[in-house]
Amino acid sequence: MVPAGSAADGRKRRWRYAPNVMDVRSFCAQSRVLVVAGKGGVGKTTMAAALARMAADAGLSVLVVELEGRTGMSSAFGHATALAYDATVLSAAGATEVEDGTDPPAGAVPPGTVHARMVTPDDALLEYLADHGMKRISKRLVSSGVIDVVSSAIPGIRDILVLGKIKQLERDRVADLIVVDAPATGHAMTFLSSASGLLAAARGGPVRAQAADVVELLTDPARCQVVLVTLPEEMPVNEAIEAAYRLEDEVGVALGPVIVNGIQEPPGGPGLAAAPAAARAGVVLDEARIAALDDAWAFRHSRVALQAAQASRLGAELPLAQLHAPFVFSATIGPAELERLARALAMGVAAIPQQQPVAP
Ligand SMILES: Nc1ncnc2c1ncn2[C@@H]1O[C@H](COP(=O)(O)OP(=O)(O)O)[C@@H](O)[C@H]1O
Ligand SMILES: [Mg+2]
Repeated sequence: MVPAGSAADGRKRRWRYAPNVMDVRSFCAQSRVLVVAGKGGVGKTTMAAALARMAADAGLSVLVVELEGRTGMSSAFGHATALAYDATVLSAAGATEVEDGTDPPAGAVPPGTVHARMVTPDDALLEYLADHGMKRISKRLVSSGVIDVVSSAIPGIRDILVLGKIKQLERDRVADLIVVDAPATGHAMTFLSSASGLLAAARGGPVRAQAADVVELLTDPARCQVVLVTLPEEMPVNEAIEAAYRLEDEVGVALGPVIVNGIQEPPGGPGLAAAPAAARAGVVLDEARIAALDDAWAFRHSRVALQAAQASRLGAELPLAQLHAPFVFSATIGPAELERLARALAMGVAAIPQQQPVAP
């Protein structure tokens, strides 16, 4: 990671910081690649977007790598188009500006900016072949479905192609931070353990070399960490705990903080006493309405208590810092909601003790 305030080319740059920036910058400096993982539907894509927003708000350059290609990532940044293999600008520099006007190195993401790209095995293979002098045949190989034949012959090759591309992006320092929106847990476990599997199976050649590079990336906490996302509910918390231990044991990847997504605010208002409150406000409510209001308040209150209990159970069983993201009551997550989520994550980051233990 390029240290705060210095450019890759060594020239000094001056920055304007938002108040929480130092915390976020040192958090992001812990690892160049954050793989956002978790069970389907817990908010991986949304939290990957929020982490990217948070880092860019702190003046960092961010590349989001999307693997499953839905449109959630684009729409969170206010774009309608789906992502492509070539990098798209999701968000140009805003809060933080480079004041001396020097241009960033060619191909790099500018500071304070979020770029994103889709990485599929087919595209990664095409590029791999082109880079290795097989450009002429590469298109034909992919369009004729050779990739499918190869994948069934060599299990894990698809994952290695994708992770190999991520490794290349990391090695080329295209951005201060690369945020990977990983597949859902089951697949993510296979995805991340493919490299060590192949390393054990392949005796030599380019596949083994690629697998070795990927294992090196995944097992170096300064280069790659997994951020697990979960919901503050019984089953998702159980799954997050299991996934965390498996990721450490089977993949050997370091774990960053866990994001607990969808935290609800305690209900406001007068509490379990709609009748006196209505009387005070001079509103006449029938008994059924009063009962319904009391029920709604009690329900919200019990949800909040349940969420708090699950979050503290997660903390007790998994000794990792937690970042809490609020449940956003909104039909869709767009730039305004994303900013709110990013700020919540930044607040969580600011509360992490500086010397967070890094998993072996
Ligand atoms: N904190 C949140 N508040 C409100 N809605 C959310 C939140 N996080 C995610 N969502 C919504 O939940 C759904 C699933 O989120 P998504 O990020 O696509 O999950 P995943 O990538 O894990 O499948 C989406 O409709 C998303 O907009
Ligand atoms: Mg997703």
